[in-house]
Amino acid sequence: MYDCCMTNEEIITKTKKYLEKLFKSESSGHDYWHMYRVWKLSKYIAKKESNVDMFTLELAALLHDIADWKFHDGDEEAGPRAARKWLESLGVDNKVIEHIEDIIRNISFKGAGVKTKLDTIEGQIVHDADKLDAIGAIGIARTFAYGGSKGRLMYDPDIKPELHNTFEAYKNNSGPTINHFYEKLLLLKDRMFTTTGKVLAKDRHDIMEKFLQEFYAEWEGEK
Ligand code: ADP
Ligand code: NI
Repeated sequence: MYDCCMTNEEIITKTKKYLEKLFKSESSGHDYWHMYRVWKLSKYIAKKESNVDMFTLELAALLHDIADWKFHDGDEEAGPRAARKWLESLGVDNKVIEHIEDIIRNISFKGAGVKTKLDTIEGQIVHDADKLDAIGAIGIARTFAYGGSKGRLMYDPDIKPELHNTFEAYKNNSGPTINHFYEKLLLLKDRMFTTTGKVLAKDRHDIMEKFLQEFYAEWEGEK
């Protein structure tokens, strides 16, 4: 499998094709197009940042959800492991693989009270792109797609949102989908690392606020 002569561009193209095949028909909002959007948005955010290693950035963006813990019995190492296996098969340098593993390990939101540990610019950019795809119009659509895929209620006024202080508590939660807006999505704009991420998050945040207002008004037959 080892190919000594692949260019970085070829490695990225091969990775995209591999993910497209694996995740084309995933229906929880973690499909190939999520990976594609995070990749595109990461490149956009990177334009305004300096000293970004674009090869690491692009691969981390594409591979960040290759084996999410939510779909692997809570196993947080499934993602880094799957990314390593794929990148080793392409002969990618071990230092680059380690960096990508670290990004995948730390990118996931782990609860309102849990700080995100990402200290490289590549990790911070992929984080912001991933969280931007969780908010705004696409974020709303993905959230209901996820809730449906997990058999969750859309909304139950009697079940209140919780702000989780540990990853364990966040992981085990199975509340209605509307609660996810309060438990995660509305918190994301204040957790952006990059300047571009902060600017883009603001508009997407406002769209969610408007959506929720409309949702409650319609729920009560007030519109
Ligand atoms: P992260 O990349 O921070 O780990 P996730 O993969 O948990 O993010 O979430 C990505 C998207 O999946 C969320 O933005 C949301 O749309 C959906 N999702 C995840 N958990 C839930 C949930 N408990 N209820 C509704 N949607 C969820
Ligand atoms: Ni993601």
